[in-house]
Amino acid sequence: MTDSDWVRRAHQVLPGGSLGSFALPSGEETVITRGSGASLYDTDGREYIDYLLGSGPMILGHAHPAVVAAVRAQLDSGSQFYAVNEAAVRLAETIVAATGWAEMLKFTSSGSEATFFALRLARAATGRSKILKFEGGYHGHHDYAMMSTTPSVPAAFPAAVPDSAGIPAVLQREVLIAPYNDLQRTLELLDTHRDELAAVIVEPGNRLIDPLPGFLEGLREATRRLGILLVFDEVVTGFRVAYGGATSIYRVVPDLTCFGKIIGGGFPLAAVVGPRELLEQANPRRRGPGYVYISGTLNGNPIAATAGLATLEELRRPGVYEGLQAAGDRLRGGLSELCAEMHLPVQTLGMASMLNLYFTASPIHDYRSARTENTAIKERLGRELLRRGVITNMSAKLYLSTAHTDALIDLTLERVAESLKCMADLRHNSW
Ligand SMILES: Cc1ncc(COP(=O)(O)O)c(C=O)c1O
Repeated sequence: MTDSDWVRRAHQVLPGGSLGSFALPSGEETVITRGSGASLYDTDGREYIDYLLGSGPMILGHAHPAVVAAVRAQLDSGSQFYAVNEAAVRLAETIVAATGWAEMLKFTSSGSEATFFALRLARAATGRSKILKFEGGYHGHHDYAMMSTTPSVPAAFPAAVPDSAGIPAVLQREVLIAPYNDLQRTLELLDTHRDELAAVIVEPGNRLIDPLPGFLEGLREATRRLGILLVFDEVVTGFRVAYGGATSIYRVVPDLTCFGKIIGGGFPLAAVVGPRELLEQANPRRRGPGYVYISGTLNGNPIAATAGLATLEELRRPGVYEGLQAAGDRLRGGLSELCAEMHLPVQTLGMASMLNLYFTASPIHDYRSARTENTAIKERLGRELLRRGVITNMSAKLYLSTAHTDALIDLTLERVAESLKCMADLRHNSW
């Protein structure tokens, strides 16, 4: 059976032959059978340099020996207990200690569940129901989060545009949308809706767009003053941009943080993290008025917790984050140079070991300015790279791991150069 047979089989039973919203370009699809280090292999044995990295969790690369060994050992001792278990306690302690400010956490199985429950905790704590999020911000797939993440026709602020069919219309009124990085406008909205808002949720570097100086600080000050909780979504940035996450870089402390991806070491695990006072609302021994239900069959699963612990242990080794930063800089720098040589306007956004390309010369500071980019170039580059054995999610971001050596990054850049050269047809039309 060839890889194209597998692609056909996938299309028979999985809508679009995909697992979620991500789908490889039609005609270039492939089915992955294994991963090792920075590489993925399809069912024909073809190798790809991997910049998906499982959508972020695989910061040590695929099948890292330390993670594999830890998981193997745990497998022999059982894979799911529902009861509190040693690995979960250890991981909770490790995460709480890494933040330097939180005291407790509740585990969930996905980042979406973490943001969903963080908002529930905020509603219970404040007695208010609305939340404010930023246009272009992605916080997972639940009905409150899937508002104005990628609106094709953005609405006037603060109206929310649902990103999916099937979301109850009534919830549109529960979510207010603000322009990211526009502190003045956001403060006005917070002030106007101060008695209705339970929380502001924000990814500190919203989809890799840096916060302007003073933006997060201004949000922190206003939310504290108005009694609105500030929720950081660090599902992507947690333990990726630094061991303490984006909070440790921007030095703004939220009321609650959501972690995911890396803390599960490639297994389903995420968490809502915060002070005792807020997390104790979800203490099952205190059921009654004010009790917040947060639970799930696999929450705190010992295999996932073990993988997370092994991953975080590796990340604590001296020099790891410096290496990841250098890898990110090498790729960002190389991409910028290649595009400059081709007179192709590009911006490489992103910090540390992640990046996103925006083919536009206009400065990007929010969702609307990001929409000035030429998506046709990006899509085509993704397709050309895939043909040359480099797998990416160009419309989201490229992730790097400790397994992305200089040699692999240079090989990637060679393939980018080849790809750009053969995109001459686009060149005549649109750049
Ligand atoms: C910033 C952010 N928050 C939340 C989520 C949702 O996490 P999950 O896909 O694990 O539900 C994602 C997923 O990519 C994300 O990027």
